[in-house]
Amino acid sequence: MQGKVVVITGGTSGIGQVAAERLVAMGARIVLVARSKTRAEATLGHLRELAPAEEHTVHYGDVSRLSDLQRLAAEIRSAEPRIDVLINNAGALFSARQVTEDGLELTFATNHLSYFVLTHGLRESLLAAGAARVINTSSHAHYRGSLDFQNLQYEHDYKAFPAYCRSKLCNVLFTRSLARRLAGTGVTTNSLHPGFVNTRFGDGSGGWTGRLFGFLKLAAISPEKGAETIVYLASSGDVAKTSGLYFYKCKPVTPSKLAQDDAVAERLWAETAKMAGIKE
Ligand SMILES: NC(=O)c1ccc[n+]([C@@H]2O[C@H](COP(=O)([O-])OP(=O)(O)OC[C@H]3O[C@@H](n4cnc5c(N)ncnc54)[C@H](OP(=O)(O)O)[C@@H]3O)[C@@H](O)[C@H]2O)c1
Repeated sequence: MQGKVVVITGGTSGIGQVAAERLVAMGARIVLVARSKTRAEATLGHLRELAPAEEHTVHYGDVSRLSDLQRLAAEIRSAEPRIDVLINNAGALFSARQVTEDGLELTFATNHLSYFVLTHGLRESLLAAGAARVINTSSHAHYRGSLDFQNLQYEHDYKAFPAYCRSKLCNVLFTRSLARRLAGTGVTTNSLHPGFVNTRFGDGSGGWTGRLFGFLKLAAISPEKGAETIVYLASSGDVAKTSGLYFYKCKPVTPSKLAQDDAVAERLWAETAKMAGIKE
């Protein structure tokens, strides 16, 4: 990873933070996308201790907001004309339905729309790197995900876990469509399940969901273990030319039937592009 530039969302906590540290130890320079100044500065401080010669940086924004995503992409694009690895990893689960300033359901906006808009906004820098990689943190929760295009924003029957499962299904479908679009450019993209990991995930979700996660996490794996597949996809020569697949424990695994449906993937792409105001 010597000389490589890695942009990561959700790098201030959990799996993303460990992945950033591991990649720095391998020689990478990290560009954090973060919303919390306190947590970003703590993470940057640690990364600088690990590799003082590299200028690790942070760009601030809330990835659930379209205006922040557009500004973040413009800022990062101008600061980083070449990006070797983009890790779309920020994610959360919300026990009650919330709506963003763009009128979108918060789980969908944070966990799916942010991956789409940031990747689109950084496309030129990724292409400039030649053999760049886009890594999308999904989850085995996607196996339980369904997509109802009439109720994509969960205006009816919102439930925290189904909304989360849907957003993680969107991550696998997005990876599939993105891989088709990137074919022949040298840029690859893959998604992954990190395992059930003891991080801050679920802590801020509120209600009984947060309490349930707190209990379940007693049996979860460490963030160090959970970060392994991200680090593998970002750095291993084994997957230099692999694209469009879903990984678990550093191996490709078959995603759900729905996650392999190209017509659904393309419809989701078109709907997401429309919501984001992106014309292709
Ligand atoms: N933990 C698991 O068992 C598990 C299993 C499968 C998949 N995953 C996925 O793994 C990814 C990372 O989760 P984690 O377990 O490491 O959880 P975590 O410790 O809660 O970390 C989540 C990260 O996302 C950031 N984030 C969340 N919402 C954001 C927003 N609106 N704007 C900017 N940043 C935001 C957080 O920033 P702050 O520091 O500001 O909060 C934090 O850095 C997520 O995509 C999650 O869905 C986790």
